[in-house]
Amino acid sequence: MKPKPRTAVLYGGDSREREISRLSGAAVSQALKSSGFDVIDIDVRDGFLEPIIDSGAEVAFLALHGEFGEDGQIQAILEEARIPYTGSGPRAARIAMSKPTTKRLLIENGIATPEFCLAGPAANDAAIARAAEELGYPIVTKPSSDGSSLGISIVPAPSLLADAVAKVRETDACVLLERFIPGRELTVGMFNGRALPPIELRCPGFYDFKAKYTSGRTEYIIQPELTIDVANALEQAAVETYACVGCAGVARVDVRLDDSGVPWILEINTIPGLTATSLVPKAARAAGIEFARLCEMMIDDALQRHQTVTGEAIARKKASA
Ligand SMILES: Nc1ncnc2c1ncn2[C@@H]1O[C@H](COP(=O)(O)OP(=O)(O)O)[C@@H](O)[C@H]1O
Ligand SMILES: [Mg+2]
Repeated sequence: MKPKPRTAVLYGGDSREREISRLSGAAVSQALKSSGFDVIDIDVRDGFLEPIIDSGAEVAFLALHGEFGEDGQIQAILEEARIPYTGSGPRAARIAMSKPTTKRLLIENGIATPEFCLAGPAANDAAIARAAEELGYPIVTKPSSDGSSLGISIVPAPSLLADAVAKVRETDACVLLERFIPGRELTVGMFNGRALPPIELRCPGFYDFKAKYTSGRTEYIIQPELTIDVANALEQAAVETYACVGCAGVARVDVRLDDSGVPWILEINTIPGLTATSLVPKAARAAGIEFARLCEMMIDDALQRHQTVTGEAIARKKASA
């Protein structure tokens, strides 16, 4: 049997999602070790390039979430250093990290995403109030980047808008105002351009940070009841979202399904949660892929993509010689 490549699991960092990343990192590391990988665990808060190079790791597994991890910066550095890494490249990661950029791209590609307005740092209360009126209440306010439902509110009436905007501005100067989509909450895990079985999330009230990570409050329905037409529309929307953002490896598309069966894309996450009980691992398991196998497939994919890119670069060089 071919020896498994020495793998650096990158986790932690300094983002607001540090704690979740530590959980993803620990789970991935343990899974890889159980499959016989030689693993080096690296908390990127203490630097990462030197430890990767010094350890002789052949590939980096990115178990990072949020800023400096999911936003394309680390991908660009690894690219420059010619170290293969899991998941999307710098451009796709950068796009996906910004909700307004993603949404503009989706609209250009004819993919449904809730109507929105972006209030920059200079937008005053009156302008924001007008934008909210135009979208129509209830609206959703959220930071333009970041994830894990941090700073998000559903605003049912104008009197509650100012507080919701202030909450976003604690972490992000740009406030995304979005039309609220009533209906169901679904998420579609993706691997290599293909959709995994969808998962429906049902929880009392708003799907927020606490509900997401407090076990027992959210019900996960794997392979939920959907008509064939709706299931196809959902899959197509997720596949097109992944393709137009230019993702690679694993990603997860968050969707609201309205009462008429239209899937509205909220966002795509390029490094979704990767504990054994996270959504993408759950979806993979429903497709017959256990967590440890999924992690190994992500590494194989990273190495293969790197080889293809290197091969193409060599061919270009030869052609121009
Ligand atoms: N336009 C919307 N309509 C209805 N619910 C929404 C809307 N936007 C966000 N939500 C709720 O907030 C959650 C988090 O929003 P999302 O855009 O996925 O941001 P995050 O990056 O924090 O996950 C969603 O899973 C959904 O439950
Ligand atoms: Mg989300």
